[in-house]
Amino acid sequence: MLVNVILSGGVGSRLWPVSRKSQPKQYLPLFGGQSLFQLTVERNRNVADHTLVVGSKDNYLLSRADLARVGKPSYTDIVEAAPRNTAAAIAFAALAVAPDDLLLVTPSDHIITNTAAYEQAVRQAAQLAEQGYLVTFGLVPSRPETGYGYLECDGNEVRAFREKPDAATALLFCESGRFLWNSGMFCFRAGTYLNELQRHEPTIYEASHHAWEARTDSFLPEAETARIPSQSIDYAVMERCDKIKVVPADLGWSDLGSFESLWEYLHAQGQQHHFVQNNLVIGATRHVEFLGLDDIILVETPDAILVMAKNSAQDVKKIYERLEKEK
Ligand code: GDD
Ligand code: MG
Repeated sequence: MLVNVILSGGVGSRLWPVSRKSQPKQYLPLFGGQSLFQLTVERNRNVADHTLVVGSKDNYLLSRADLARVGKPSYTDIVEAAPRNTAAAIAFAALAVAPDDLLLVTPSDHIITNTAAYEQAVRQAAQLAEQGYLVTFGLVPSRPETGYGYLECDGNEVRAFREKPDAATALLFCESGRFLWNSGMFCFRAGTYLNELQRHEPTIYEASHHAWEARTDSFLPEAETARIPSQSIDYAVMERCDKIKVVPADLGWSDLGSFESLWEYLHAQGQQHHFVQNNLVIGATRHVEFLGLDDIILVETPDAILVMAKNSAQDVKKIYERLEKEK
């Protein structure tokens, strides 16, 4: 069985003030009336036998509403009281199914326009996953982005996995021609992932197992989850594991994770009305002009204005975290 695991625990803090705890970006109906979450469910209809949503207690009702909107009758929920990042979230999914089941892990905040290439890539990934590999999907980089993981590749082989390099290293990777972006989607047997997690991060493995055993229905308890070290699958497993393969694919992929990715997406879509000279404007209710400024992003919502340099896009998360603390 191939199970699509939709990760939806994030609040999209790098897209504050558009995205926030009460309305994370993946549920905003901004794409022809549909949300990124809905598009994710629909994209995987043809490739997966079952849907498993791992989300937080703050947004599981939003997930349910979106699943109902796209007419998805059968799915499983796993609800985290305290999100502890993707290494644990994926462990819960792996514990919920049989060890031989294949997991197709997908974030809930990506755009993929080339559906045929996607379905083909998933089929290829599933074959490699059946052989016991952790399979990634590799994309040709279009800029030295520091918010992504990089795969040093040779065909389907992965020589190294490097998560979120600094700017100079990202530039070297892009110039070398040997690196692909890690898409953030993965395919593996549930048992393969749990074995690798146990091997490389036994504390996360044990603590996730413990929280899973303490669940009530699909709700994971706060105290037990809070004890799990917060780490992403990328650092916890992928950077250290030697059983990784890659399926290079041209998916028409965008991660709408930061305003810089949104900039690139809107630019590629020819949505020029969002640009004033070489600056991006989102949601402004008044006429905006820039003088002597380039590569600026201005975002307006009814209760907040954000003005920043494009190359600070990854740091919006820090503003969100500070505001959450001050609440
Ligand atoms: N359930 C749950 N619980 N989901 C979570 C949690 C959690 O604690 N933390 C994050 N997620 C979800 C997010 O909502 C998102 O859909 C997905 O997991 C990935 O998390 P991000 O925080 O968006 O990761 P990233 O963008 O920094 O990096 C990943 O994706 C990049 C491509 O978009 C990495 O895999 C990179 O290597 C990759 O390049
Ligand atoms: Mg992301």
